[in-house]
Amino acid sequence: MIRIENIHKSFAEKKVLRGVSFDIEQGKTTCIIGKSGCGKSVLLKNIVGLLSPDQGSVLLDGQRVDSLSRRQLFDMRKNIGYVFQGAALFDSYNIFENTVIKLREHGENDFTILEAEAKRVLSAVGLLPNIGGQDSGIFNKEWLDLKEKYPSDLSGGMKKRVGVARALVGKPKYIFYDEPTTGLDPVNSEQIDQLIAQLAKKMDVTSIVISHDMFSVYHIADKVAMISGGELVFSGNVEELKNSTKAVVSEFVERYS
Ligand SMILES: Nc1ncnc2c1ncn2[C@@H]1O[C@H](COP(=O)(O)OP(=O)(O)OP(=O)(O)O)[C@@H](O)[C@H]1O
Ligand SMILES: [Mg+2]
Repeated sequence: MIRIENIHKSFAEKKVLRGVSFDIEQGKTTCIIGKSGCGKSVLLKNIVGLLSPDQGSVLLDGQRVDSLSRRQLFDMRKNIGYVFQGAALFDSYNIFENTVIKLREHGENDFTILEAEAKRVLSAVGLLPNIGGQDSGIFNKEWLDLKEKYPSDLSGGMKKRVGVARALVGKPKYIFYDEPTTGLDPVNSEQIDQLIAQLAKKMDVTSIVISHDMFSVYHIADKVAMISGGELVFSGNVEELKNSTKAVVSEFVERYS
């Protein structure tokens, strides 16, 4: 489980987070909502140790993230899949290389292992036919077609799927999605939402999804946390969110629904 305790974070004079606390429950999907620039990505980066809080702490499975050594952080991140804002694929890498980047970083160079894992995760996100987890070469043609493509050859929806596939590599316990549907049309957005919900169920992962698309939030969230003015202004389930009488919350919900 993840415990966010009194996180403060400023950049120069700008106070972005001013004492945010809440827990991310195991096995659930928690959506973090709030206006553009309110600090959602900054919060997520504090959770994975890409940024350190000025005050407060994040406990991930009982470990204080900001006190970990580089080595420990590296190990901790094996448990975490991160889908970055925008698809953030490397344009000069093909789809196979983009997918297995994390395994390579962790020293895996065995081509058979890399290829099997790439096929597994690309099937899991629907970019390859699902053949029940077996690699019998049935979809060899599809695989050969896909693996040598470059991000510029793919549609926006497909790029997001590759971004999700990359996060699934190594079977992480946690998956964090930063605005996974931004920039997609409603049909593709809904498909990504379904994918997130399906992965949460099938892979038994704990997910954090940053979004300001309320349609997505209603579909995938077990829990919702809202940030405004650097503070946590709401925490609860979707029903409670819809019924919130707090002005800052209900105005946001109405605007983005
Ligand atoms: N590394 C950084 N250096 C300086 N300022 C930063 C840095 N990272 C974020 N900020 C600032 O912190 C504020 C919050 O940024 P953040 O990216 O967390 O917003 P967000 O809620 O994710 O917004 P969006 O919905 O647009 O993605 C912004 O004003 C941003 O400019
Ligand atoms: Mg952001």
